Amino acid sequence: MVRPHSALIVSARFYVALLLAVLPLAPPCLFAQEQVASAGQPVGGTERSANGQTLRVDALRPDVLRVRLYPAGAPAEDASWAVLPASRTARVDVSPTSDGFTTSALAVSIAADLRLRVTDRAGNVLQEDAAPPRRDGTAFTLSKAQTPDDHFFGLGDKPGPLDRVGMTFTLWNTDNFGWQESTDPIYKSIPFFLEEHAGRTLGVLLDNTFRTGFDFGHLDPKRYTLSAADGPIDYYLLYGPEAKQVVETYAWLTGPTPLPPLWSLGYQQSRYSYYPRARVEEVAARLRADRIPTDVIWLDIDYQDRNRPFTVDPQRFPNFPGLLHNLAADHFHTVLITDLHIADLPNQGYTPYDTGEAGDHFVKRNGADYVGPVWPGPSVFPDFTQASTRVWWGGLYKQFVADGASGFWNDMNEPAVFRYPSKTMPDDVQHRIDEPNTGEGFAKRTATHLEIHNVYGMENSRGTFEGLLALQPNVRPFVMTRASFAGGQRYATTWTGDNSSTWNHLRQTTPQLLNLGLSGFAMAGADVGGFAGSPSPDLLTRWLMLSAFQPIDRDHAAKGTRDHEPWVDGPAHEAIRRRFIEERYRLMPYLYTTAEEMSRTGLPILRPLFLEFPHANADGHPLDLDAHGEFLFGPHLLVADNPSPDEVAPYEVHLPSGVWYDYWTGATLDRRVSAASGTGALDAEIRDAGPAALAPLMVTPTLEKLPVYVRAGAIVPMQPLTQSTGETPSGPLTLRVFAPAATAAPTDVCQGDLYTDDGDSYNFRKGQYLRLQFSCTRAADDSLTVTLARQTGSFTPWWTALRFEVVGFPAKTAASSAGNSLALETTPLGVAVTVPFPAKPAAAATAKRKSPAVPPQTFSVTFR
Ligand code: GLC
Repeated sequence: MVRPHSALIVSARFYVALLLAVLPLAPPCLFAQEQVASAGQPVGGTERSANGQTLRVDALRPDVLRVRLYPAGAPAEDASWAVLPASRTARVDVSPTSDGFTTSALAVSIAADLRLRVTDRAGNVLQEDAAPPRRDGTAFTLSKAQTPDDHFFGLGDKPGPLDRVGMTFTLWNTDNFGWQESTDPIYKSIPFFLEEHAGRTLGVLLDNTFRTGFDFGHLDPKRYTLSAADGPIDYYLLYGPEAKQVVETYAWLTGPTPLPPLWSLGYQQSRYSYYPRARVEEVAARLRADRIPTDVIWLDIDYQDRNRPFTVDPQRFPNFPGLLHNLAADHFHTVLITDLHIADLPNQGYTPYDTGEAGDHFVKRNGADYVGPVWPGPSVFPDFTQASTRVWWGGLYKQFVADGASGFWNDMNEPAVFRYPSKTMPDDVQHRIDEPNTGEGFAKRTATHLEIHNVYGMENSRGTFEGLLALQPNVRPFVMTRASFAGGQRYATTWTGDNSSTWNHLRQTTPQLLNLGLSGFAMAGADVGGFAGSPSPDLLTRWLMLSAFQPIDRDHAAKGTRDHEPWVDGPAHEAIRRRFIEERYRLMPYLYTTAEEMSRTGLPILRPLFLEFPHANADGHPLDLDAHGEFLFGPHLLVADNPSPDEVAPYEVHLPSGVWYDYWTGATLDRRVSAASGTGALDAEIRDAGPAALAPLMVTPTLEKLPVYVRAGAIVPMQPLTQSTGETPSGPLTLRVFAPAATAAPTDVCQGDLYTDDGDSYNFRKGQYLRLQFSCTRAADDSLTVTLARQTGSFTPWWTALRFEVVGFPAKTAASSAGNSLALETTPLGVAVTVPFPAKPAAAATAKRKSPAVPPQTFSVTFR
């Protein structure tokens, strides 16, 4: 039943009063209501009522539950901004029990006082109410039992350590310039977290857009709590048991990050602000002259006429389309800032204001447009929770798209409003919700800012994303947003806002981007070099090194700070910085393949170790908690940054058990647990700290060294260096095979994928992509065979040859494919052979190639 919001509040208050009055009298009653489902309809859940409240639990899948609590007979709207309609309404059969139900994965029981308990089918408790749900007026608190070995991850961009245990958080999108490690809240509200306990992981999404609170054992170490000031008690439980499954399930629930345009994975140069036009051209020319591979130049607010969104300052930027055109000719994409506040300029010929006013697209207070000060001065604010307003907003991009801009930046959309202590608009601003046919389930109604605040930025970026798609249906939009909510990854990438040029902020980027990735925002970055303040040369160098292994690599700086471009501290620093950016470009096929996996599965590009190695520690605790500064870049590469980057003392590196390679030198590190305590050959620069095979490595930090390791059995696709993703690489596509150990068990996986397509359209949906899946085996005769096991898609890639480079496979002398011997090349890391690769054997282009032996669609190369 759908009810207007105000009626809901009234009824909630009424029922709380009623509840208190009848509390001692009311008998619980359990309805396994859907046991009697009509033919073909799944038996999807159960509900139980007590004391005037109903607790309803539905199984969306065997491993996904939706839990709602509402005054008996008065369910809240079945609606969500975060959850995809098809997932929200999915149901599976359940088997009723005396106090709940089971699915193939879970058992649910509801106590007489409505306390909820969820276990796996073996009886392991996954979540249990520590107290019945508590209501205080419109507010509520849910208390869940916590044990000493619980760990909590996610919750979006919150600063602080990776594990949220022992901390308390508020979700209220806030423009917090110069935030620090302990600042809360900052820009985003992602009320989703993973609870890990003894190797079992449960995801929890509290789908409530009001100001919410999360306490992970800070007030009471025996319980964690979820609370909100108002709104529905409506949450989802996602069971693993492994974190990887939970992250994938969260993508099923709220949508994955879409496949980004290839260019957005390149290096990006920004500052507040590059102006005038000549300065932009100067920076672009220097990037090319100094051979710093770059794909993107960002224009911040000063390109605009008096900070008015959707204008261009004609003095500073004469012939704006000409500038964008020239940059594009040099393979630079331009991203423009387009803030949501519209300058309040009636009758002055300012089109965004005039058309917005004509369409009644601005939020209201006391019956008139609400006006608040932001960059352009007095401003009005689009009513983004009306579908029609988003369509109007999206149309504002028409001219910039025609001018040749490639991407757009939605900043200040918490929304930030100057001068108020709250830094945002007043609570009583009215937003209209009008979502015909979008499946979200909201009735047309008016809501206060208290309800809409946390989704305002997400709906802003949604308007941009959908508007760009409407303007160019076959171009993947690139949008970056500062504020967002759960599910916002469907529309925009993000960054961590106004960080600072300090070592601590550099350190902070790793846990922050990891938690963002676990919370759906896999395409995320932090201002490289720090926004507020001026980085020392060493800090900027280290930051540019680390960010080469982060999803978005964008150098950005505040007004008035010193220059940040890679060349500013002289040739020695520039050489280090260039080398790392170059490595990112060499790894582009690997990065793009990882991004494509992200777009299908929701798995982030930056991964905590526990995502790939959930059983690294015998007691089930995540290895990451010992390994601060470490993360996985895609499935195969482990980056081990200094956890205290300003310190010069050696630091510990913890690797999961197995054989690893030093990515830079190819040296083998045998980290298998062995009773004999022997370890394998070690990188000369790395000495083992202890006797046990799994004792941490000790790394002595130097300015130019960033340890990166690769797991044995990884096949990593790489390409020749280019200066942008728009430039066609010259030479073969390399598959760098990190050989499995000679004694590898047959179950040890040796594999790698390669995905490619045209990089910016949706033609991949029509089959125009190329996916190659490789595997390898090391035989008893010590030969190594790499096999192209599967090839799908019809896209013709840029390369005409595949180079198989084998690392960690000593002194091989011969290689062959299909009985033909192949010339062996010695490389700095190992040996390699090159074979022609026709993507389409029958295509005309292939016929022209001089190929002695054209391999069939699947083939093997054997090294002996
Ligand atoms: C905000 C943004 C920052 C931007 C500035 C000017 O502070 O967070 O990145 O440069 O506004 O637009």
